[in-house]
Amino acid sequence: MRCDDTAAWAALRAHFDRDGRHFDLRSAFASDGRRFERLSFEAPHLFADLSKNWLDDSTLDLLLQLAREVGVEARRDAMFAGSPVNTTEGRAVLHTALRAPRDAGGPHSAEIHEVLDAMLAYAEQVRAAASGFDDVVNIGIGGSDLGAQMVVPALAAYAEPRLRMHFVANVDGHELVPLLARLDARRTLFVVASKTFTTQETLANALAAKAWFHAQGATDLARHFVATTTNVQAAAAFGIDTCFGFWDWVGGRYSLWSAIGLPIAIAIGAEHFSALLAGAHANDRHIAEVPLARNLPVLLGLVDVWYRNFHGLASRSVAPYHQGLARLPAYLQQLEMESNGKRVGLDGEPLPYATAPVVWGEPGTNGQHAYFQMLHQGSDVIPVEFIAVRQTSHERRVLPEAMRVLLADQQRKLLANCLAQAQALMLGKRADEALAERAPTASPTLDAQVIARHRSFPGNRPSTTLVLERLDPASLGALIACYEHRVFTSGAVWGINSFDQWGVELGKALCSALLPRLESGDASGLDGSTAGLLARLR
Ligand code: F6P
Repeated sequence: MRCDDTAAWAALRAHFDRDGRHFDLRSAFASDGRRFERLSFEAPHLFADLSKNWLDDSTLDLLLQLAREVGVEARRDAMFAGSPVNTTEGRAVLHTALRAPRDAGGPHSAEIHEVLDAMLAYAEQVRAAASGFDDVVNIGIGGSDLGAQMVVPALAAYAEPRLRMHFVANVDGHELVPLLARLDARRTLFVVASKTFTTQETLANALAAKAWFHAQGATDLARHFVATTTNVQAAAAFGIDTCFGFWDWVGGRYSLWSAIGLPIAIAIGAEHFSALLAGAHANDRHIAEVPLARNLPVLLGLVDVWYRNFHGLASRSVAPYHQGLARLPAYLQQLEMESNGKRVGLDGEPLPYATAPVVWGEPGTNGQHAYFQMLHQGSDVIPVEFIAVRQTSHERRVLPEAMRVLLADQQRKLLANCLAQAQALMLGKRADEALAERAPTASPTLDAQVIARHRSFPGNRPSTTLVLERLDPASLGALIACYEHRVFTSGAVWGINSFDQWGVELGKALCSALLPRLESGDASGLDGSTAGLLARLR
């Protein structure tokens, strides 16, 4: 049943009109001393405080009823069982199978573990000093880039320090050229990562890397270029012998658990890669087995629906308070916006309600000194997702004692900032409070009342705080899987296909048509703007 036809949707609408629209977080905490305990949830390796969200018991009950009425559980079970839930491509969606233990007997277990074993063995070879490799360059884009590019720095404390990992995605040579200038072809391994092995950007960069490799006088292409792909023939045609395969039931943005994770495995090794998979698997069990009312990804996905469709909030900001997670917002953009940025339902009919919000962000505290101004005082309410990590990653490193003491203080500063931002968003500051304060930088000539209005904060701005004990392979695997299942949940409620991406096709086709025109200058039949710009850009 479509979500807006359910009884729960109508009840949520009435609940929103009556209570939701004017929900006040400060009053909610004042009237319920146990709000934090009641609205905190746990999943393997994760703790989530949802108490600073515009929710009460009725909201949650109705959202859970909505999930049941639209059949989120049945869709989840169908996905895990390998049914073709990616209906427009007639494909199963089985990234969860990639992280199932060997003995769990899940779908495709034998072939998954065959590739995994080969890939981990190869990763260990590359990690060994005897491999002769110092630099590893992953050439891929989108799902063949963003996952590994996010995970490798996040787990730097677990990485082989001898190896330098690089990621090249953009077809703009500005990314590849300066990198190659620093590398020694005889000590560099290129991983060409592409599910289809047809992606324009990846093939262009791989060809350029190959040309550079030969120009350096290097010859052993088969040793220095490997591929991670479902299209082994195309990789072979490129001249690559060593291929780690995967399957059409692994979506690009869900593929870091497959051979596409090879750079991760090279960086952190087989044992830690297995821990990453295990953390994700633990969260697969969580979404599959825990009742909806305590099921963290389901609750997060339902809150997303509440904000998007009832409060009309069009964006969500992610603020990881761990520099290692600097690329997490970019990763989540693809995960959420490519999955749920859809305007038709499973039957192809246009939907009358909104779907994926814009997801964006930067690590804290950096974002505080840039766009947090808008989060606190801008005209739009943007829910913020804070990710706090209790222990630092540099615990694992050998550091001078004096520095260790200073870094412990830096960690307290980081966490205090994280807590303070969530608090400030919620509490705000009234104009009379601002008026009572000294504001040394305020103009002495402007009316104090006017300044106080500029210095007031509306507050009541919602946020979620996710807490990890430490950023390690297992907790990161858990975090990513939780996000995947959250996106699945909101997509299931919206009744869309979260697993295709037809929206990227039109631009690709038009690009192919424009490419020869950039050379020839032929602008015939083009719209005026494109013709004008083409002439300028030639
Ligand atoms: O253009 C979008 C997309 O198809 C993504 O879904 C995918 O992750 C990316 O391109 C890269 O595709 P491939 O792995 O086939 O090179």
